Amino acid sequence: MDLRKLLHATCVAVGLFAGLVFAPYAQSRSSTQGPPPKWWHNAVIYEIYPRSFQDSNGDGIGDLNGITQRLNYLQALGVDAIWIGPMFPSPQVDFGYDISDYENVDPQYGTLVDFDHLLAEARRRNIRIILDMVLNHTSDQHPWFKGAAASRSDPRHDWYVWNDGVKDASGTLHPPNNWISLFGGSAWEWVPAVSQYYYHEFYRAQPDLNWRNPAVERAMLDTLRFWLDRGVTGFRLDAITTLFEDARLRNEPEQSGVNAQGDPIVTRIYTDNLPEVHGVIRRMRKMVERYPADRVLIGETYLPNTAELDKWYGGARHDELHLPMDMLVGFTNKLDAPTLRSRLLEVQTQVHGSQPLLVFDNHDNSRSWDRYGDGVHNAEIAKIIATLLLTSRATALLYQGEEIGQVTTVPTRVEDVRDPIGVTGWPNEKGRDGERTPMQWDTSNAQAGFSSNSKTWLPVPAGFEAVNVKSELADPDSLLNWHRKLIGMRRARRAVATGRMVMLDVQNANVLSYARVAKDGQAILVALNMSAAPQTISLDVKSAGVRQSTLSTLMMSPASMEKPVTANAITLPPYAAWVGSQ
Ligand code: NOJ
Ligand code: CA
Repeated sequence: MDLRKLLHATCVAVGLFAGLVFAPYAQSRSSTQGPPPKWWHNAVIYEIYPRSFQDSNGDGIGDLNGITQRLNYLQALGVDAIWIGPMFPSPQVDFGYDISDYENVDPQYGTLVDFDHLLAEARRRNIRIILDMVLNHTSDQHPWFKGAAASRSDPRHDWYVWNDGVKDASGTLHPPNNWISLFGGSAWEWVPAVSQYYYHEFYRAQPDLNWRNPAVERAMLDTLRFWLDRGVTGFRLDAITTLFEDARLRNEPEQSGVNAQGDPIVTRIYTDNLPEVHGVIRRMRKMVERYPADRVLIGETYLPNTAELDKWYGGARHDELHLPMDMLVGFTNKLDAPTLRSRLLEVQTQVHGSQPLLVFDNHDNSRSWDRYGDGVHNAEIAKIIATLLLTSRATALLYQGEEIGQVTTVPTRVEDVRDPIGVTGWPNEKGRDGERTPMQWDTSNAQAGFSSNSKTWLPVPAGFEAVNVKSELADPDSLLNWHRKLIGMRRARRAVATGRMVMLDVQNANVLSYARVAKDGQAILVALNMSAAPQTISLDVKSAGVRQSTLSTLMMSPASMEKPVTANAITLPPYAAWVGSQ
């Protein structure tokens, strides 16, 4: 599914301990002059959907010990940090995004001891751990909500968003407004015990917290500290733009037609991206900055434009999120050079010098392989996307399986659907199972090495025999080795690690070209042919401050491409990706 569309139609005492915890991490980036970049500048952060990464105990569900078992793979790939999807205790209605205890591990995924072991083993490999923190809502099974829903006089009643509803002329009670749940139907659910509706932006099992109550903020910051004290590097903040709702509960404007769930299409001006949220984020940033070792706040920020994205960094003050995700580049869903050029340029130039965070894939959207692929040249196009992601001036987010070209495999029968969105929306909305199928490791068994259990929580797609880590490691031309080389280049070349990004040949409708130029003049050139026809380009590298000399090719796809000798004449086969240096 396309969640973006859906959303846009939506210590000091501790510091001592934490400093010790973080001491072993090496600063892996080389610096030019000035203060050294933070570890997260130009880092590669790898998203793990824990249910689907590696099952260690044969129950068909991925787990923390499974992640530990695969750390060597991640280290060899070159990732700096892993973002682990929610692994806290949860009824798993939305597979962990419905948390019932913020300070423990769900038994399905392991124990706190397993978590500490993972943390220690990751640290030995210089891999940091980022947790997925769900602050907008809890599970309806969280003790806070259970108390809140049992009695209006419960001390936590006001921790959630309640309303008495409105009566129509015939005396029938209705929700107070037209707010729609992203998971289908009204966003209001009636609770007889308190004779009130509660608000849920997502599934009804995910009641929204009332962030206007300061006690909620205090409780949530405490949970962040719990994990920071344990040694995590930071958080990916789930649905962070949706913390606040309009205090007056005004109706959202409605557009014509209905969405895939059959609900009216509303423009979310009263339930998403309200200005109040920025105060919370500034306080959160301050709290996180009290910890040593460059902890980081990453945001799930689907936003309408770059100006809004800039606000999430704190604009010129740089005092909000370190890395709000730029969804405007990676989710254009069309391999179009002019669009990608202008979006990249915007995030390079219109966020007050903040560090962009690019992402093309996650567990909520069909795989980039399918969103950008044309059905014929998908393998070449995937290399273009990888090159764009890993050679731009940006921190890069990779989603498990993206590096090997896993495809979206949607269920064909409603009875096989696991994602609640696919259940409520079938058949128009088949949900997100397609991008959550198990990681394809090898051909050792019918479960692609993911599990020893023949029944995995989601089926392993048939294509795993060709698309898997083991066979791609053995193939020098594979998408996996393409990623490994690109990540290696980020580490080895100053131009890619810290260089500025200069767009070249900016009128070209088919080829996206740019230079990355380090302060000492070292540079790389990138040319990506986004068309099905061969293209010859001439790059005015001088204008980018790049010395004009004989080119050397660092990477090219297809491998049969003729190596260019001068920037004045680079001939690119259809969907070619070329990276060179002067
Ligand atoms: C965004 C998460 O990525 C998605 O998987 C989840 O369903 C919603 N937020 C609700 O937490
Ligand atoms: Ca398991």
